[in-house]
Amino acid sequence: MVSGSAVIVRPARAVRGVIHIPGDKSISHRYAMLAAIAGGTSRFHNFSEARDCFSTLGCLCELGCDWGRAEDWAIEVHGVGPRLRTPTEPLDCENSGSTMRMLSGILAGQPFSSELHGDKSLSRRPMARIMTPLSEMGARIEAAQGARPPLKIHGGRLKPIHYRPEVASAQVKSCVLFAGLFAEGETVVEEPMRTRDHGEIALRAFGAEVERTGNASRIVGGQRLRAIEAHVPGDLSSAAFFLCAAALFPGSQITLPGILMNPTRARLLDILVQMGLKVSVAHLEEHQGELVGTIEARGAAWKGAVLAADTAALIDEIPVLAAVAPYSDGGLEVRDAKELRVKESDRIAAVAINLRKMGAEVEEQPDGMRIPGGQHLHGAELDSFGDHRIAMAFAVAALRAEGETTIQGADAAAVSYPSFFHDLRSVTS
Ligand code: S3P
Repeated sequence: MVSGSAVIVRPARAVRGVIHIPGDKSISHRYAMLAAIAGGTSRFHNFSEARDCFSTLGCLCELGCDWGRAEDWAIEVHGVGPRLRTPTEPLDCENSGSTMRMLSGILAGQPFSSELHGDKSLSRRPMARIMTPLSEMGARIEAAQGARPPLKIHGGRLKPIHYRPEVASAQVKSCVLFAGLFAEGETVVEEPMRTRDHGEIALRAFGAEVERTGNASRIVGGQRLRAIEAHVPGDLSSAAFFLCAAALFPGSQITLPGILMNPTRARLLDILVQMGLKVSVAHLEEHQGELVGTIEARGAAWKGAVLAADTAALIDEIPVLAAVAPYSDGGLEVRDAKELRVKESDRIAAVAINLRKMGAEVEEQPDGMRIPGGQHLHGAELDSFGDHRIAMAFAVAALRAEGETTIQGADAAAVSYPSFFHDLRSVTS
């Protein structure tokens, strides 16, 4: 199936089985960063296998915080906080926007200068969204033209702010709340729309007080964090690929134990149910404030949907929903999602190009797309555009196409899900 970084995906007839999805990427980043500035050693079970999270751990290591694997495979992070070590090398965030944006919040509060850079894709991504609030708090930040990476952060004493970001972004919210830990007084982030709240939940797990009223999250600076032991729930954004694969074949059945059920992430399940997937959730539990459950899904008729207004709640799942949309009865319309254009790739363009190569009709708009349903797709040679979610989304779309599909640059999947192709093979027949 795999040759070099190209993967060939053949059509399937059914999707059936059980998959243990690796730990959530968003939570793993935040746990690692907060563990670094906490006192003591934190232990994380089911820590994400994503390359992005190892980019975070690599940066933390350069900042004087050792980490390693315990015998039971847990990741142990030895906190040195709140004061990190002055780095002697630039911090390499590789492909990870989460690493760069959220770690910047912590670095802004450190009494030293640091430099963060990334790969070609990350070097194109907008950083003004974190530079503006951190500068208001008193950090001095230099960037390349257009407020793009690399970033030079001259940290120090911070003052608290009441920040109202223009874009709904959980990375920005976490960045400012993390910086707020180092400010003298109360920092508030009032978001235009509710975004994932793993930053707030993780801060509380590490012993900080964070208040949430309406769309505002508040933190008072100077709070000390203490090490924790935690189990990271399975990543719902990774589970999305298998849920969409099951949706393609009536009669398919998939079981995904231990998946993150945080309401700020679970909008995907509402959409999938609305589109016809039969979903049930069992064994609901709470781990360090995060809701976890076992998802059982069965494929049935696959209807259409319109995604608008609350696209921030399922922004990472739109590529796969779009990639399988031509097979639905009613198609998919995505609006108010221009953030997709500034992800690891321009995800609106990448989806449209690949779907057209498979023979589909797609209408591309500046902030979304319209994909008619009831289409028949054929296998084709596709490109991941170096984007993990595009590589995985089209591996799923290829399962219902006529003939085989080659995905160039499929190794990008490792950025969030290294064992994806193995796991996909294990449930398709
Ligand atoms: C993330 C938030 C989202 C998401 C990204 C992870 C997070 O980005 O797309 O994959 O962990 O907070 P934005 O904060 O830019 O919306």
